[in-house]
Amino acid sequence: MVMNPVKAQDVWKDIGEHVQFTVLELNRQDQAAEQQAIMDFADRYQAILRSLRIRDADGDLKVAFGFSSDAWDYLFPNAPKPKELEPYRTVSGPKYSMPASKGDLFFHIRARDEAVVYEAMNQFRRFLKDITTVVDETKGFRYFEGRAIIGFIDGTEAPSVEDAANFAIIGDEDPVFENGSYAFAQKWKHNMDFWGQLTTEEQEKAVGREKFGDLELDDEQKAPNAHNVTSKAEIDGEEQKIVRMNVPYSDPAQDNTGTYFIGYSRHWEVTKLMLKNMVNKDDYLLTFSDILSGQLFFIPSRPLLDTIADGQFNK
Ligand code: HEM
Repeated sequence: MVMNPVKAQDVWKDIGEHVQFTVLELNRQDQAAEQQAIMDFADRYQAILRSLRIRDADGDLKVAFGFSSDAWDYLFPNAPKPKELEPYRTVSGPKYSMPASKGDLFFHIRARDEAVVYEAMNQFRRFLKDITTVVDETKGFRYFEGRAIIGFIDGTEAPSVEDAANFAIIGDEDPVFENGSYAFAQKWKHNMDFWGQLTTEEQEKAVGREKFGDLELDDEQKAPNAHNVTSKAEIDGEEQKIVRMNVPYSDPAQDNTGTYFIGYSRHWEVTKLMLKNMVNKDDYLLTFSDILSGQLFFIPSRPLLDTIADGQFNK
């Protein structure tokens, strides 16, 4: 098998207009029934997507669905496991931590119309509701000009769609899991009042870019803990990239406005290194944010979902 983005789920393209992240926990009450329900779901999942794409042909529906390490061990105890799939453990630096939280199944759904997002999750839930509990559901949106909720253009240094597959999709280093991806999901609540009272110049130093025009600042103009300084990751002297799709969200009733970070990578090691660098260098974003959750999931390729549906991983 050769790396082939067409066989991957929607991990490497399109941030979308309306976005929803849903994290479910397996009830762990009846293992055989839960394994069977997951097989049935894997069988129906792609048909649901095909159907919704017919029903709303211009809807741009994109979905990624995956499993945490604990869920994998529980559902497929005798099957091979993706090489880098492990439980996400809290990453801590001298001042700040990025906490780990629970979660077994993960959905990242986006579409032009929120009704399509709703309908997709509603149909998925028909197969999953008896075996799972909802841990978190966050609805996000595309903000003006593709800006992050903190007002800066987002994604400029992330790989563009044409280049993204190589950074987001597992290759022949792990043949059974080729065309899968490691998804890291992290929910950040920002202190927007604090951020809003900074001057534009202070904000620009914190992010390391111009706010209106998005040009990168010269290194000496950036704060030492500017986000685009601390989040860089190098391995053997080579800069590493992942596919990032930050999603703004706001829940004013809970006084909770922030960013749902989602990063898809070919190697979890790369995302993990970015996280470690951010906490070790006190990334400016951490100074005015509370991180509410953090989980790692494996997003199988579409053919692997068929293998799961066939029950071959449950033998
Ligand atoms: C959740 C809050 C976050 C916000 C609001 C945010 C926002 C931004 C913005 C506005 C940029 C500059 C434009 C761009 O190149 O995309 C950026 C760059 C970047 N971010 Fe984030 N980000 C967040 C979290 C993270 C996390 C958790 C990671 C790592 C796992 C990360 C990794 C990166 C990287 C690698 C860059 C490019 C740096 C460069 O090479 O210039 N970000 N982010």
